[in-house]
Amino acid sequence: MAEPVQRYLDRIRAEHAGVTDGAVADYIPELARVDPNGFGLAVSSSDGFVYESGDAQTEFTIQSVSKPFTYALAIDRIGAEAVDAKIGVEPSGEAFNEISVDQSTKIPKNPMINAGAIAAVSLIPAGGPDERFAMIQDFYSAFAGRRLEVDHEVYISERATGSRNRAIGYMLQSFGVLDGDPDEVLDVYYRQCSLNVTSTDLARMGATLARGGINPLTGRRVTDPAVVRRTLSVMVTCGMYDAAGDWVTAVGMPAKSGVGGGIVAVLPGQLGIGVYSPLLDDKGNSVRGVRLCRSLSEKLGLHFLTVSRDSRATLRAVYRPRDNIRVYETHGDLLFSGAEQVVRTIDRERDTFDVAILDVSRVDDIDDAARALLSDMAVALRGEGKAGYLVDPDGIVIRTETEFEEVRYSTADDAVAAAVEWLGRTFQR
Ligand code: DON
Repeated sequence: MAEPVQRYLDRIRAEHAGVTDGAVADYIPELARVDPNGFGLAVSSSDGFVYESGDAQTEFTIQSVSKPFTYALAIDRIGAEAVDAKIGVEPSGEAFNEISVDQSTKIPKNPMINAGAIAAVSLIPAGGPDERFAMIQDFYSAFAGRRLEVDHEVYISERATGSRNRAIGYMLQSFGVLDGDPDEVLDVYYRQCSLNVTSTDLARMGATLARGGINPLTGRRVTDPAVVRRTLSVMVTCGMYDAAGDWVTAVGMPAKSGVGGGIVAVLPGQLGIGVYSPLLDDKGNSVRGVRLCRSLSEKLGLHFLTVSRDSRATLRAVYRPRDNIRVYETHGDLLFSGAEQVVRTIDRERDTFDVAILDVSRVDDIDDAARALLSDMAVALRGEGKAGYLVDPDGIVIRTETEFEEVRYSTADDAVAAAVEWLGRTFQR
């Protein structure tokens, strides 16, 4: 049954197959040896199903697509505050290899340009360069769900031609951003950039970010949602270098490109996308990769700022089983804005009932903000001499033994019966 989706993706990719604009990166000699015609697409759903089109299994070096993952690893290991002290989160509007730091803070502007990426490598706490690289390799491999290996030729070539990165490394040392030996840190950075991936690996790595840090293939938690949120944020603002504004406008997905021709794009909660085509534009982004991502976003409606049907009411129905009893039935996800709507409605109508029954038995998901608002509502009703009951068979609002346990019922009928009894007791005296 996946065929219609497969055909659809094949068609979208084929629309761009004839584009031959751009040039392969040649500032690292070994990169210039790739087949310029390679063109792959892989899309991973959030439950780990992967669609592949074209050269999705072709290996290429990850290059700068590595940067968000090392940034994530640094935050995972030493925390956001320690990382923020050394790397900013502001778009630079500069080329990826600019020898620069922020004018006022004297730290790299963001982790997606080389200066920030090299600083991020230096922040991974390890006993030496080999251990540091092993941590990076393990972390990326956990994102991909398979062991990623270094392309030795590219690594040697990268190291032999790395004068500019060396300049950046020593500049960072002079500003106190980078502790230790810059050459050791750079060696890890070159190895990191030379890890081989396929479009499918990138799709899986993206899907792991889309799932808030859980690899949908292995089911393993690789990192925390807070680390992922931070990583996706800098991918949105800085992932596509000085084309970031254009990218967000046209494609609208956190993403990262590399001079190997790869792009990873993430639709939070939904998809990871990996594309590969080594012909690059003058900003270092894959020409066909960018075009393909634009088409996918347009045709599949993937822009993350598309306003969805969020006006769909959380309140499914309101009814009146007795004169002074109101039942508020909710459904879907009950997060802050939904709970706010429920609380406001109950508050507005509070002169029309003595007992409000909130039925959450059809709610799929609820968060702490909603839980707190609804509990406060029950307390407020009690303060006015009214009662608030809850139909919460699975205990999603009231999870443990609390003062509210006594107002929790499994069915609306039970809650109404209890409300009738309470009204009898309260108003007959
Ligand atoms: O020159 C470097 O630092 C790299 N090997 C990585 C560069 C890269 O992929 C930049 N991205 N477009």
